[in-house]
Amino acid sequence: MFEIPTKNIDERRQGEAFEGVQIPVAAGKRFYIESYGCQMNFNDSEIVASILQQQGYGATVNYTEADLVLINTCSIREKAEQTVRNRLQAFNTVKKEHPGMLIGVLGCMAERLKARLLEEEKLVDLVIGPDAYRTLPALVEEAGGGQKAVNVLLSREETYADISPVRLDSNGVTAFVSIMRGCNNMCSFCVVPFTRGRERSRDPESIIRECRELFDRGYREVTLLGQNVDSYYWDGTLTFAGLLARVAEIDPLLRVRFSTSHPKDITDEVLHTMAQYGNICKYIHLPVQSGSTRILQLMNRTYTREWYLAKIKRIREIMPDCGISTDIITGFCTETEEDHRETLSLMKTVGYDLAYMFFYSERPGTLAARRYADDIPEEVKKSRLAEIVELHRQRALEKMQQEIGKTCLVLIEGDSKRSAGDWCGRNDQNRMVVFPKAEGTGKGTYVQVKITGCTGATLIGEMIKA
Ligand code: 5AD
Ligand code: SF4
Repeated sequence: MFEIPTKNIDERRQGEAFEGVQIPVAAGKRFYIESYGCQMNFNDSEIVASILQQQGYGATVNYTEADLVLINTCSIREKAEQTVRNRLQAFNTVKKEHPGMLIGVLGCMAERLKARLLEEEKLVDLVIGPDAYRTLPALVEEAGGGQKAVNVLLSREETYADISPVRLDSNGVTAFVSIMRGCNNMCSFCVVPFTRGRERSRDPESIIRECRELFDRGYREVTLLGQNVDSYYWDGTLTFAGLLARVAEIDPLLRVRFSTSHPKDITDEVLHTMAQYGNICKYIHLPVQSGSTRILQLMNRTYTREWYLAKIKRIREIMPDCGISTDIITGFCTETEEDHRETLSLMKTVGYDLAYMFFYSERPGTLAARRYADDIPEEVKKSRLAEIVELHRQRALEKMQQEIGKTCLVLIEGDSKRSAGDWCGRNDQNRMVVFPKAEGTGKGTYVQVKITGCTGATLIGEMIKA
């Protein structure tokens, strides 16, 4: 396995672009891949890169020189789809001067719009859904011959277990490992069950093998990925807690993270396993979506405000220092000012370390789109979102300030963005920490850092022990 550069734009990171370092590419055909959406999608692009590499393709970070331009797409909000359409226009402008170039849409938008992308919009040559990446080489051949190439079949089994992802845009220290695909929850706002199909778990032996290989190559952190990791289940015996323990046992120097958990599914067994292993990071992403029980019911989240708060209490009983982050949707159908206040008060009670905050975007075909009117005016959605963002900013800053004076273990990920004289890395609770470099330290090493200051998003410190 080797690293290939790419250019990824994560919609959740609000349009921030990441550019890889240019490396020499193979002499043959070249592909370019751009990814949007969740970490799962980024990891899927690494699987696609591996499939193409086996076909002799080299990678490029410049789409104007690519033979095959791929865009791995997200459908979660309308804005994500609009961004992709704009990119497709840009690719097509270049294609006019490079008639041999093929343009392919992968991922959730491919699954949602299917052949419509080829027929109505005529912006693409290939359309491939999340479970059909193995057929990419054959489809490229078909498209090259001038045929319409589409495969959006969803599978009940596909987990790409045997494919070693080619690490794209890698820092060589942290990597994502998919452990399951699909989602069986039916949150009424969400398009995922339609675009990614039924839940299925990946063979644990292939997960352990991939994590061990990463460790042997110098990686020091794996994030186990799935739309709903807590429903991981293998062979009637292995639960997510069991899998976590097995990955943690690979080596105490390998940090383990995971994402995403559904509040209804994260068990005490998982919490106790996290507490038991020093190398399982004390950090949980636990999307709440709303603080109002009435709205949670309409969203079909299957828990109440009180139940969610009890889960937070339980997490803190078992791991008092656990970092907690969330996703919040504001302006869901029928949301009143009172419902909105309940979300604000829940945020105050929990005190999230990190929050991804969105306003509701109706997605065609979802339960909510079929059942409820998208009746909250855009200005109201926006002003509620602004309030939520501001409250979170204040609370998160207070929490960061509480870290000053404490000492934490940091895994060095690389140079700080601002200064090559500083390292940056994360602590257990997933907070970015920046501190001056010192001899004997390097990427992939653990250091103790005393926190001396902070900004809104970063802790600043000094190393106390290599
Ligand atoms: N509108 C706005 N946000 C959404 N999310 C999922 N579907 C929608 C939607 N239709 C958010 C949820 C989810 C995160 C990945 O995206 O908060 O947890
Ligand atoms: Fe977007 Fe959801 Fe698909 Fe991920 S699974 S790419 S968040 S729609």
